[in-house]
Amino acid sequence: MEVIIRKDAEAGCILGAKIIARLVHEKPTAVLGLATGRTPLRLYQELIRMHRDEGLDFSRVTTFNLDEYVGLPGTHDQSYRYFMRENFFRHINIDQSRTHVPNGTATDLHEECRAYEHRIALAGGIDLQLLGLGRNGHIGFNEPSGSLRSRTWIKILSEQTLRDNSDVFGNRESMPRHAMTMGIGTILDARRCLLLAFGPPKTRAVQAMIEGPLAAICPASALQLHPRATVIVDEASASALEYADHYRWIDANKLPWQRYD
Ligand code: F6R
Repeated sequence: MEVIIRKDAEAGCILGAKIIARLVHEKPTAVLGLATGRTPLRLYQELIRMHRDEGLDFSRVTTFNLDEYVGLPGTHDQSYRYFMRENFFRHINIDQSRTHVPNGTATDLHEECRAYEHRIALAGGIDLQLLGLGRNGHIGFNEPSGSLRSRTWIKILSEQTLRDNSDVFGNRESMPRHAMTMGIGTILDARRCLLLAFGPPKTRAVQAMIEGPLAAICPASALQLHPRATVIVDEASASALEYADHYRWIDANKLPWQRYD
């Protein structure tokens, strides 16, 4: 796991955007796995800026989002389809037909899960999967204790996740308790993973993900198995890392071609 510690979320998101922009430059037909939530918002803003000011071209890019709430149509303002359209897609030159978000209102949800996996395979697999980190160590909506080899499926949200995400729904009762999410196995199949985690609420999960044992109780620890996982954290979320100086040392001694900025 490549661990990069930056001063704050702003610096971390700018770096994350550079990594994605470089991939899109090198491979204009890249397949990107995308995440929603508060964490990547600034990263999306930076990619939008690069598109506007530097001509970063998304016209041949394909995207697959990690997850969607069960029962929310794409027109609902708390659906992840809506989030992606408002915060990213409508500001860039992406072909909307190449953007995929699981359909949480499909009549046959299990069939939709299988079809989602199939669509990813047909696109040639995911080149880079962007991830946020739940306070409880989840990635996508893979909550603690789920299988580390799971595929896209319907998951029950934990009470912690309901507490963390229900503010935008007004109250906990109107927030869906189920989500369709890529599984850990699906995420690990991506050729590259890029996880961002910022702020004190993520400190414990960051420590468990990077330095804890590989364990289903911290789903993000499965990234320890990935051959090319990059984790960008800020000083606050890195504050419990026992080997922080080691990660800084590695970062400072990278060869020019191993650097992103
Ligand atoms: C979002 C997702 C979740 C979030 C995580 C962190 O598509 O899959 O795993 O990345 O819950 O959310 P924020 O960024 O809001 O702290």
